[in-house]
Amino acid sequence: MLSILSRRKFLILAGASATDYTVAWGRQRRPRSLVPHFHIPLPIPSVLRPVRTDNTTDYYEITQREAEIGILPGLRTQVWGYEGMFPGPTIKARRGRIVVVRQTNSLAVPTVVHLHGGVTPPDSDGFPTDVIMPGQSKSYVYPNDQRAATLWYHDHAMHHTGRNLYMGLAGLYLIEDDQEAALPLPRGAHDVPLIIQDRRFEADGSLAYEHGIGHRGAKGDTILVNGVPWPRMEVATRQYRFRILNASNARIYRLTLSSGQRLVQIATDGGLLPKPAPTRSLSLAMAERVEVVIDFSIYPVGAQVVLQNLDGKGAMGEIMRFDVVRRESDDAVVPEILSDIEPLSENAALHTREFIFGAKPKFGRLSVAWTINGKQFEPDRPIAQPRYGDVEIWRFRSQRDFGLGMLHPVHLHLVNFQVLQRNGEPPLPHELGWKDTVAVNRGEDVRIIVRFEGYRGRYLLHCHNLEHEDHHMMARFDVS
Ligand code: C2O
Ligand code: CU
Ligand code: CU
Repeated sequence: MLSILSRRKFLILAGASATDYTVAWGRQRRPRSLVPHFHIPLPIPSVLRPVRTDNTTDYYEITQREAEIGILPGLRTQVWGYEGMFPGPTIKARRGRIVVVRQTNSLAVPTVVHLHGGVTPPDSDGFPTDVIMPGQSKSYVYPNDQRAATLWYHDHAMHHTGRNLYMGLAGLYLIEDDQEAALPLPRGAHDVPLIIQDRRFEADGSLAYEHGIGHRGAKGDTILVNGVPWPRMEVATRQYRFRILNASNARIYRLTLSSGQRLVQIATDGGLLPKPAPTRSLSLAMAERVEVVIDFSIYPVGAQVVLQNLDGKGAMGEIMRFDVVRRESDDAVVPEILSDIEPLSENAALHTREFIFGAKPKFGRLSVAWTINGKQFEPDRPIAQPRYGDVEIWRFRSQRDFGLGMLHPVHLHLVNFQVLQRNGEPPLPHELGWKDTVAVNRGEDVRIIVRFEGYRGRYLLHCHNLEHEDHHMMARFDVS
């Protein structure tokens, strides 16, 4: 099943030489220098075609299966992919049209599918215990009764979400609507998804998944964009829209351009901002999305602009490169007003609830359980039961204790929320608009406001550091 394990045994038995490799945790590591930066062209995940459509609904079929693909030069990597692809195919949905995805599990492990950012009925939302067993199928129904936004679908299996995503089970899901389609933003080939992930590989090219000490999170030494390491993208002298998703297990990025040019942010998790927000750098925690417009018309042909990560050192400080290769005219415009967002009023809130994200040591110092309000995930017991239609303020605090304080990207299923305050201050510019995930760093205190609507039933609140999530930093809430 996991070729990682058999390969490791093989290397130990064969007594493979360690001279050329970094040896950590007893494994043979590929030397980082083998992966050249900015050589591989950026691929775009293909858009999945429906197998059938009718007046109301588009029907899709996806098989989750193993595949051997080329990620590192000269090596093969086994992945677990939707349709065997890494990342999975993109689904394009239209507001008001239903999407039904029949997922078939051809892997050797149980899986669950969640549409992150989706306003989804509970039986299609991917509760961690609602598994598809190997050889089985399940149809997920997505009504798409929500505004245009960049969503993503990914695995959500109990205790194994981190491993399953690391192996490849994630893809984009884009919702369009009439309002957004009417704007003169860059579109078609100039509307480009960038899925950023970090991975670690064995010497033979296989993926090396590790929780990190104390389940701090699986981090890699190689940055992938749309599944390839440190790619390059050829661009023309015009504007492009980039939909950027941080699909990493446990790494945060702070995006900036090497040229000093500002990124013009136009959207966040839940779609367009009220107005464009130019910024020199943007923090993107796990599961967050931002959309930015970059205007390459300010550069001469031949210019090279690196998308950098100010949060990373050395190789991890670079993400990809844009090579300006040709002149092109441009009729795209970023309007001054992008969308209409009604701020939820604090006066409307009927309850304030507090959630403390912390940890407790387990079996000595090398293991911890990550907790919410001191509790581990209990699938049968809701931590909160907001009433349908109610507005509530939820306050998220990240503990500092035990030296275990970490960043926790806090995510709610079902709803989008607005950030009210971060440490008593107004939210960061990139957090205005609708969000479904908010970064709460060590010692921070973040207040959000949310209306519970869409569906009644069983949903989740959890940290999107996937190793924290798998090791209990998750809670059920019920909309009643
Ligand atoms: Cu992106 Cu509950 O997950
Ligand atoms: Cu989600
Ligand atoms: Cu966390």
